[in-house]
Amino acid sequence: MRRAPEELRSHRWFGARDLRSFGHRSRAQQMGFDAQDYTGRPVIGVLNTWSDLNPCHTHFRDRAEEVKRGVWQAGGFPVELPAMSLSEPFQKPTTMLYRNMLAMEAEELLRSHPVDGAVLMGGCDKTTPGLVMGATSMGLPFVFLPAGPMLPGRWGSEVLGSGSDTWKYWDRKRTGAISEEDWNAIEGGIARSPGHCMTMGTASTMTAAAEALGLTLPGASSVPAAFSGHARMAVASGRRIVDMVWEDLRPEQVLTSAAFTNAVTTVMALGGSTNAVVHLVAMAGRAGVDLPLDAFDAVARRTPVLANIRPSGAYLMADFHDAGGLRALLAQLSDLLELDAHTVNGATLGENIAGATVHDDDIIRPRDRALSPEGALAVLRGSLAPNGCVIKTTAASPHLLKHTGPALVFDDYDDLAARIDADDLDVDENSVLVLRGAGPIGGPGMPEWGQLPIPKKLLQRGVTDMVRISDARMSGTSYGTCVLHVAPESAAGGPLALVRDGDLIELDVPERRLDLQVPADELARRRDAWRPPAPPPARGYGALFARHVTQADKGCDFDFLAGAGAPEPAIH
Ligand code: FES
Repeated sequence: MRRAPEELRSHRWFGARDLRSFGHRSRAQQMGFDAQDYTGRPVIGVLNTWSDLNPCHTHFRDRAEEVKRGVWQAGGFPVELPAMSLSEPFQKPTTMLYRNMLAMEAEELLRSHPVDGAVLMGGCDKTTPGLVMGATSMGLPFVFLPAGPMLPGRWGSEVLGSGSDTWKYWDRKRTGAISEEDWNAIEGGIARSPGHCMTMGTASTMTAAAEALGLTLPGASSVPAAFSGHARMAVASGRRIVDMVWEDLRPEQVLTSAAFTNAVTTVMALGGSTNAVVHLVAMAGRAGVDLPLDAFDAVARRTPVLANIRPSGAYLMADFHDAGGLRALLAQLSDLLELDAHTVNGATLGENIAGATVHDDDIIRPRDRALSPEGALAVLRGSLAPNGCVIKTTAASPHLLKHTGPALVFDDYDDLAARIDADDLDVDENSVLVLRGAGPIGGPGMPEWGQLPIPKKLLQRGVTDMVRISDARMSGTSYGTCVLHVAPESAAGGPLALVRDGDLIELDVPERRLDLQVPADELARRRDAWRPPAPPPARGYGALFARHVTQADKGCDFDFLAGAGAPEPAIH
């Protein structure tokens, strides 16, 4: 049922006839708008995560104008609200430290301004979960506008993929297999258009998850940023949000348990990033949906990997888009999806994917030629990870999925960087590399250090993969037998803090186990002797983060932000 103009939230700013609304209207007039612009029109907040230091969002100034065009066309009043950009390539120590800050900013931007609905503009890794978490807690209708992937990179005849080829060619440079000149040419060719990383990294994974959740227009997540179709999708998103406000189509109608199951299924079928586990748990928490780690493992076991995209596969996002995009992929999986889930365009997921066709079945594989019969991720537990950890099985070496070896422990990233290439490092290919001090509190912010480099002396002998274990995260563009997100983390006193060089560690992915083979009495002695790392910061955002961030298995949200937002207070 369509709402009346007087029922709009913004009516309390612009429609009342009192002293305060006089101020709101006069100040709108100061900006060049008059009563025709704001009277009886839904006010749409366009949350723009553009910045001069976010190369993935360089097109967002244009896209914001295109969203506004759509809002005006549909009878709304667009207002652009800048939000923290969370630039993956530039922000230190990690954008993950600030995901919750963006979530808080998005929620409060919407709460404090005269806004009836929102278009969220994001794509670079943490911007998707950050914006969605905040807007979900606020509870106003919103559409998510994905930034779109960049075009393929190029070095001579080689097609380059974000992240993955950086690690690959860095290792080749370390062993002298490519020259400084080659390395400089790769630097100039690996990122050559607007848009987010074009491999199936965290950005592509999370924008696809947003589409599967029903938060974007159908097909939006794979449109390359540089395509004209991306601009048209921005306009269409602007048009749609105005109708959503009139329909009062709120996130709680879209973000149901069924929608999150669809998102997890999508991540598995894409061979998506391990980061999706942390983010989806946090997003579900904001929607009041319980999404335990074991749900990911259960979905993984029944979902084949169909997207042949790097790093699990061979192609890039522009190829995936031309092959039919996410709608075509989901149409292959319809028996595994909750097709009745509602989406922001007013149709169900089933209606949105009906009739979608695959144009290249090497890129979007049929079920009988899946890249892997099971999903990309596995959740492990055991004495080394009592609350769980994650491994990307499709990026791991099959012969290492069952492996027992002696630990080689690095206490933190500085220790790792200082010793990993030392000639006298006591390591061989059976060693299990362990990095601690890299979790939500220890990092801080759980940086993407989980793809520990292979020691140079082993690289030179042709070793390209080893078992690596940490409480860190790993870039979605990374690969290797890397066990991640170990919970509890070492800085919180998890068993990872007690491992010593030479301890045997047993990894058994088929049995979903990760165990430290040290007798209980010896572990108890080590625990008595353990002292927590240096105290967290005493002031500022760092102090807030250290005190309130939850562990990886709980999504690393702040403990005081989980659950739906409180009822809105009276607006005066
Ligand atoms: Fe922005 Fe990869 S750096 S998505």
